[in-house]
Amino acid sequence: MTLARVRARALNGVTATLVDVEVDISGGLPACHIVGLPETAVKESRDRVRSAIINAGFEFPQRRITINLAPADLPKDGGRFDLPIAVGILLATEQLPVQVAATCEFAGELSLDGSLRPISGALPTASACAKSGFTLVLPADCAAEAALDQSCSVFGVNDLSEVVRFLREEIKLRPAVAVAQEERLETALDLRDVQGQFQARRALELAAAGGHNLLMVGPPGSGKSMLAQRLAGILPPLDLKTALEVAAVHSVSRGGFDSRFWQQRPFQAPHHTASGVALVGGGSNPRPGEISLAHGGVLFLDELAEFPRSVLDVLREPLENGEIHISRAARQACFPARFQLVAAMNPCPCGYHGESSGQCNCSLELINRYQSRLSGPLLDRIDLHIAVPWQDYQSLKKSEPGEASADVRERVVRARDLQLERGGCSNSALSGQALQKFARLNAECDALMSKAANQLRLSLRSCHRLQRVARTVADLAQSKSVEVSHLAEALGYRRTR
Ligand SMILES: Nc1ncnc2c1ncn2[C@@H]1O[C@H](COP(=O)(O)OP(=O)(O)OP(=O)(O)O)[C@@H](O)[C@H]1O
Ligand SMILES: [Mg+2]
Repeated sequence: MTLARVRARALNGVTATLVDVEVDISGGLPACHIVGLPETAVKESRDRVRSAIINAGFEFPQRRITINLAPADLPKDGGRFDLPIAVGILLATEQLPVQVAATCEFAGELSLDGSLRPISGALPTASACAKSGFTLVLPADCAAEAALDQSCSVFGVNDLSEVVRFLREEIKLRPAVAVAQEERLETALDLRDVQGQFQARRALELAAAGGHNLLMVGPPGSGKSMLAQRLAGILPPLDLKTALEVAAVHSVSRGGFDSRFWQQRPFQAPHHTASGVALVGGGSNPRPGEISLAHGGVLFLDELAEFPRSVLDVLREPLENGEIHISRAARQACFPARFQLVAAMNPCPCGYHGESSGQCNCSLELINRYQSRLSGPLLDRIDLHIAVPWQDYQSLKKSEPGEASADVRERVVRARDLQLERGGCSNSALSGQALQKFARLNAECDALMSKAANQLRLSLRSCHRLQRVARTVADLAQSKSVEVSHLAEALGYRRTR
């Protein structure tokens, strides 16, 4: 045989598209060409593959080799094509039989000695491979990640010789298994450490239960950052579908996916010097940004007013649609970005505006300028606005210690289960239509809502957001219907300025 075909996959965002690696060996002067829009890392593949094949003890043909990566108009990069190209050359030179190789897809970067290095995007590759009904052969170091998608049969291999022996049916490989439960990492801090701040704790519980966005405003040192960091510990567990989406996004990011975080909600806290691209994602080969890495979890923006306004405004669209489309000259990619926004800030540059101590000496103009860094549309997308005020040391000492995260989480999980049973999603994701069905307002609530809408000039979006929060208050109280007390509490969290 002089022509061989091997299945591989190219990554575009979190989509792994099928690529046919065709290897043709013909007479002529010894040469090796790769065609089909390969980027630099793929062009260099021929040198790695040549050394790997020779060093693993196989023969590299001294003829004219043409490697075509089809479809030709799909950009391809990374070292993931090394293994399929090597297998293609070995098939074309009849050093390998076709039978087993025809049932597999391959991905992996080769070292010069023939050993395999891990690739990024193992999980989305496995998910796409499973849909086509093929077996995935990839480096052992990323096999556990690929095996998280249990619908795919995955084999992890250490080097080229092992792949050859497997394809020649000289050895049997064990299917890869996902990370064991006990190896998971628990990182969350406990709410028990937070003294006082009962209103903020309540708002945090509501945010966790309904998936609502939250903004905390208060003077320095009142515990805003501390509270936000404890949100991860009270969030309900991730369902399998979202957990796979979360792992897939992290898998194609620069940092990769750490299997110990499997089924844990992500908590991303970018610094306020982060650029727009770092936040939403980008690059010539688009990579996910912080908002996509926070998919299924929390995006925490500490010192919100310090973020440039242009950076914050890029959040408006994903906050509404739950995804982000990135368009670059050569490529387009779409990443999921359904995150919960939690933010903290001081009310003014000195931080003490509104405190009874009268410590603040910022001028009204300065305060306005500081607060105007946040656009109205962004604030409108935040359902819960709370003050985290200064607390008196003496009364704090006397107050009861706070409830532990485990107890709060129990209530949160119960409330979230109710939501999933009823509408199939968290309250924050309920559509306007679903709200009329699941959070119907009785006459009393309706009267309160129309009065509030008139007085506070609430937009219809704000009214819907209010109704969603009221539904969460009712769920935490285990109430089937939304009562006026629930709506009144929700109104209390509305920004009035
Ligand atoms: N309510 C609280 N209970 C226990 N410790 C607290 C509380 N508030 C503040 N602290 C202590 O103060 C430290 C600073 O709190 P934190 O960083 O949360 O303040 P902050 O409100 O975010 O301030 P800044 O506006 O300056 O960012 C905490 O690490 C903690 O030790
Ligand atoms: Mg802080």
